[in-house]
Amino acid sequence: MSSFPTGVAVVTTLDTEGLPRGMTCNSVASVTLTPPTLLVSLRAGSATLEAVVAHGSFAVNLLHSGGQRTAELFAGPDPDRFSRVCWRRSPSGLPHLADAAFAVADCRVSGLLDVGDHTVVFGEVGAISHADGTPLLYGLRRFTAWPHQ
Ligand SMILES: Cc1cc2nc3c(=O)[nH]c(=O)nc-3n(C[C@H](O)[C@H](O)[C@H](O)COP(=O)(O)O)c2cc1C
Repeated sequence: MSSFPTGVAVVTTLDTEGLPRGMTCNSVASVTLTPPTLLVSLRAGSATLEAVVAHGSFAVNLLHSGGQRTAELFAGPDPDRFSRVCWRRSPSGLPHLADAAFAVADCRVSGLLDVGDHTVVFGEVGAISHADGTPLLYGLRRFTAWPHQ
């Protein structure tokens, strides 16, 4: 699948103490238009997955072309990811990456499917926010910016 380029998202949510959690994720796909549904596939044992399941909702932050450092931060070992980025709560309370994302979808967990070492999380999209920007891409194990403005 490294030969299949994708955009890059950070899936965010709140843990049982109300603290923000999040991880970089490129296994994002649209599923249905009615109801508007997407999926993300998160590794079993992930703290973010545990929080998504417990909280019952999550946000998909689509990173813009300048978001590589944020993507690396949310894929790395730093336990303090949110203290290193600009983020704010959406009206529903979900953490949004205000500087690194150009589009965000707030989702309610509508299904869970364990498949091997990952759990596929289906999310029914409630609110979306969108700003100008072009996507960060990932393929062939490299990040790159969208080539056109
Ligand atoms: C570009 C990129 C895409 C990634 N996509 C996924 C993904 O779709 N699912 C997944 O489980 N991990 C993915 N990862 C790895 C996670 O971001 C990484 O394991 C992270 O540390 C998990 O965070 P957590 O332990 O706080 O849950 C990706 C990493 C990178 C760099």
